[in-house]
Amino acid sequence: MEIVAETSGPIAGKLPIYFGPPDQTAIVAYSDRGSETYDDPDNLSSLYGEASRRFLETLTFRQEDRFVLDLGCGTGFGFDVIGARFEPEDMVGIGVDPAAGMLARARTKYKGMSRFRFVSGEAEAIPLPERSVDRVISTLAMHWVQDMPAAAAEVRRVMRPDGMADLFLIANEDGFVFKRAVLAAMRKHVGFAQIIRAAGVVQRLRAEQLKTIFETAFDGFYVTVEEQREEISAPIDEHMSWWRARSMPVVATVPDLDAFEASLRAELEALAVDGHVTFDAAFLRVRIVPSTQPSTM
Ligand SMILES: C[S@@+](CC[C@H](N)C(=O)[O-])C[C@H]1O[C@@H](n2cnc3c(N)ncnc32)[C@H](O)[C@@H]1O
Repeated sequence: MEIVAETSGPIAGKLPIYFGPPDQTAIVAYSDRGSETYDDPDNLSSLYGEASRRFLETLTFRQEDRFVLDLGCGTGFGFDVIGARFEPEDMVGIGVDPAAGMLARARTKYKGMSRFRFVSGEAEAIPLPERSVDRVISTLAMHWVQDMPAAAAEVRRVMRPDGMADLFLIANEDGFVFKRAVLAAMRKHVGFAQIIRAAGVVQRLRAEQLKTIFETAFDGFYVTVEEQREEISAPIDEHMSWWRARSMPVVATVPDLDAFEASLRAELEALAVDGHVTFDAAFLRVRIVPSTQPSTM
């Protein structure tokens, strides 16, 4: 896989924020087909896997960081990358995720390692006591959250007063070209109402919107939100492979997934140049620090 461009910086623009009713589609799909393919090397080394890894590798821990919460931990990828840096013996990693299939894989992987725990729950109702964690991290999970203001309030509730949070999620602008291909394939397999429903499964926010939400919840903290853009050119098979692992929740209601995938492949083939398709990814990096500490990313 080849990264052909990378830029970052604040993004402008205002969109109305719509938070629909809670939708279990993503969670069910991640427990079903999503968790089966999630740890495949093709997914973990995909554009998204690599971007998460790079984000996690930039994090440094403070002496006071004892309890680290990974929100939307999936199969435990966050601790796979940073867990070796949990140096103090009493440093504990707590993964929270609503998808039973993802949690089962994380628990199997971390069996016998008591400092890593995996708990069923969601960002909108974190199953931890008030002021119980020093650091909150999250990779590519918060855009699945249906009610972001509730999630922000929950992160604030469980964080100690000198706590910090580093969140990495997909931005509104992500994958516009690719999404057109997905939409064209969906039109062949599901009705308009289902397409609208699928679009509402993820909440893609702009940097400004996310900053407002977290600033409202985090009085007395610095909140920075940065956009990160990447474009990668990869063969269709590689795109299909990560797409299957990461985006299955979006098409969970498509009756014949194999036929849908064949249509998606055909759409991508129409876009391909020399067998390669370019994917335009956009991420948001959120950092929340107490206003007594420097806010630099
Ligand atoms: C793309 S996976 C990312 C998993 C992991 N953090 C990683 O980087 O590999 C998205 C995860 O978000 C979880 N998720 C979905 N809705 C959620 C919610 N409301 N709160 C927390 N996690 C959620 C899914 O179950 C899934 O495990």
